[in-house]
Amino acid sequence: MTARADSLAGNLAGKKVLVLGGRTGLLGRALVEALTRLGAEPLAVGRADFDPLDPEAMAKFLDHNQPNLLINAVAYTAVDKAEDEPEAAALLNATLPAVLARACRTAGLPLLHFSTDFVFDGTKAEPYVPEDATNPLSVYGRTKLDGERAILDIFPEKSVIARTAWLFGPGKGNFVHKIVSLAQTRESLRVVHDQTGSPTFTPDLADLALALLASGKAGIFHVVNAGRATWCDLAREAVKTAGLACQVLPIRTDQYPVKAKRPPFSVLDTKALTEATGLVPRPWEEPLREYVREEFLKK
Ligand SMILES: NC(=O)c1ccc[n+]([C@@H]2O[C@H](COP(=O)([O-])OP(=O)(O)OC[C@H]3O[C@@H](n4cnc5c(N)ncnc54)[C@H](OP(=O)(O)O)[C@@H]3O)[C@@H](O)[C@H]2O)c1
Repeated sequence: MTARADSLAGNLAGKKVLVLGGRTGLLGRALVEALTRLGAEPLAVGRADFDPLDPEAMAKFLDHNQPNLLINAVAYTAVDKAEDEPEAAALLNATLPAVLARACRTAGLPLLHFSTDFVFDGTKAEPYVPEDATNPLSVYGRTKLDGERAILDIFPEKSVIARTAWLFGPGKGNFVHKIVSLAQTRESLRVVHDQTGSPTFTPDLADLALALLASGKAGIFHVVNAGRATWCDLAREAVKTAGLACQVLPIRTDQYPVKAKRPPFSVLDTKALTEATGLVPRPWEEPLREYVREEFLKK
């Protein structure tokens, strides 16, 4: 993180921060690392600690631990499976944010929550700004949008919603890790080239979202690395960085059928983030190369 981001997030030092999903989540782990580096005291909780959907258990935890801030990195993230399990997806993506917003309102705690580029339908030609009309194409996108709305309805004063996209990073499986692992044993891989988005490194996202939280601003922000890529571009860059000979061949979305419909274009515009924090996210290629080298070339 830049010195500027460190100083912005510096007022998190000494703060107790409850991180739901902080034990096992791809983003949750990055948030816990970033908070620790900033001198905060992250309270990472997982599903074994208590059921976050149970308002009484949540109130008891808040009362006992007295955190200063609450971050929600829990979600139902299996985008295709959600098409078959809409109730389970709604419980985590829509009901949970409502439960958390109520708990935060009662306790007066600022809330940081994460949402997705999949709230958009992908028909725009320019990067999406937070105010753009939403029109999710999938159960996952719809339930995440319901979660955003619940938070803004219940506790708009102190809630930050960071919409992000296409995450990769250490500590858990993700698209980039899967591609490089497959490329180690395959001569070629077929990857879709007609969906364009904003690949984002979880440690960068954690730093930027924490700076946003520390800025005291509220509302919806787009928080992603700079630039844009197709899944095929992202896979090619990862395979190239890993020094593998595997060929990455472009295919169309209809040649790789999946249950949930994805937006063909979901690049997110981060101007509002920059206005709130003064921070400009770096291009996705930089952390992608760092991540692939660290993950695959140092061992
Ligand atoms: N991944 C992406 O590309 C992407 C893109 C756009 C937006 N986002 C958003 O970014 C946020 C973080 O995503 P992520 O990829 O880091 O998610 P993730 O790795 O799938 O982590 C989800 C977390 O939620 C926990 N969880 C799931 N069900 C639970 C339950 N019933 N009770 C308690 N905890 C439960 C998981 O715990 P277990 O390990 O115990 O299951 C895990 O810690 C989410 O809001 C997501 O919608 C992600």
